Amino acid sequence: MKPKILVTGGTGFIGSHTTVELQQAGYDVVIIDNLSNSKREVVDGIEHITGTRPAFVEGDCTDMPTLRRLFEDYPGIKGIINFAASKAVGESVQKPILYYRNNLNILLNLLDLMPEYGVEAFVFSSSCTVYGEPDQNPITEAAPIKKATSPYGATKQISEGIIADVIRSGSPIKAVLLRYFNPIGAHPSAEIGELPNGVPQNLVPFLTQTAIGIRKELSIFGNDYSTPDGTCIRDFIYVVDLAQAHVKALDRMLSGDNAEPLEVFNIGTGQGLSVLQLVNAFEQATGVKVPHRFAPRREGDIEQIWADPARANQVLGWHAQTDILDVMRSAWRWQQRLADG
Ligand code: UD1
Repeated sequence: MKPKILVTGGTGFIGSHTTVELQQAGYDVVIIDNLSNSKREVVDGIEHITGTRPAFVEGDCTDMPTLRRLFEDYPGIKGIINFAASKAVGESVQKPILYYRNNLNILLNLLDLMPEYGVEAFVFSSSCTVYGEPDQNPITEAAPIKKATSPYGATKQISEGIIADVIRSGSPIKAVLLRYFNPIGAHPSAEIGELPNGVPQNLVPFLTQTAIGIRKELSIFGNDYSTPDGTCIRDFIYVVDLAQAHVKALDRMLSGDNAEPLEVFNIGTGQGLSVLQLVNAFEQATGVKVPHRFAPRREGDIEQIWADPARANQVLGWHAQTDILDVMRSAWRWQQRLADG
């Protein structure tokens, strides 16, 4: 058995898929989640897939006594993957204090406690949003960090800076920042997937809810962008591929292979796909039509961004592998599973 890993936000979308990949790679996982945007039953889904139930602590990482109790109850944690954060871009504009308080306090608490409890390695969920609107695509890790367009994006930028400062100060920890592009899809088993609260803000959950008839039609925000079909371009990365990048990052730090105490990787496919192309891919993959119409641009949207993942490919030995049609089928199976209750 490999070391014990704490996954904060481990019942969430990316956290749950990462827990599965960690367990399948032999790691022993402890999850902490306050269930603010996920459900306890996700732990059952993880167990159904892997045959092992991860330890689950219901609690809030902004609370130091809760975290201390966790480290006392589960001694020997060697790594943390920090998914726990608020992540709705629009909401962050309405409630900036909530976003700064939540996302930054969680990070500070964890970084503070790591040396005390002998935790060596930290993986941080960052986002391609730190780049703002790119000057050129595909974008590499060396691209400039531009002013964030939302408090959510600002928390990612500030968090990256905090981690760098803590490591520079001599803290005996290692960290990897993973800048995710657009994570989509669900586990092929349909045991776990994305569970948005209320009306989905992100493209794929809205698309699958429209396909199944929960929503009347998908609004495609903007068809007058300077892109071949006029709709925005993103790098859609399969959540299971993304989850595997976390395992690679941890393996690297815990085996002492990291070149620097702080490393940064883009986690994307390297392929830009337009919103319209994604809708077409869904229809082709599933044979199900998605009623859609063009709507005005959404404020704050970036026109086009896709990753240059060469660094992750070469240094981490990680590649996005899954065909977009398979990804779309996985999202559809999950939506159907949700509909079946
Ligand atoms: C945003 C954030 C990203 C964050 C992610 C997770 C920015 C710039 N990006 O990604 O950092 O990690 O959310 O929540 O802040 N679209 C439609 N119709 C819809 C929904 C979306 O056309 O109903 C379009 C959007 O205009 C966009 C694309 O689909 O062009 C992807 O949107 P979405 O899934 O919300 O992700 P991002 O905005 O790219």
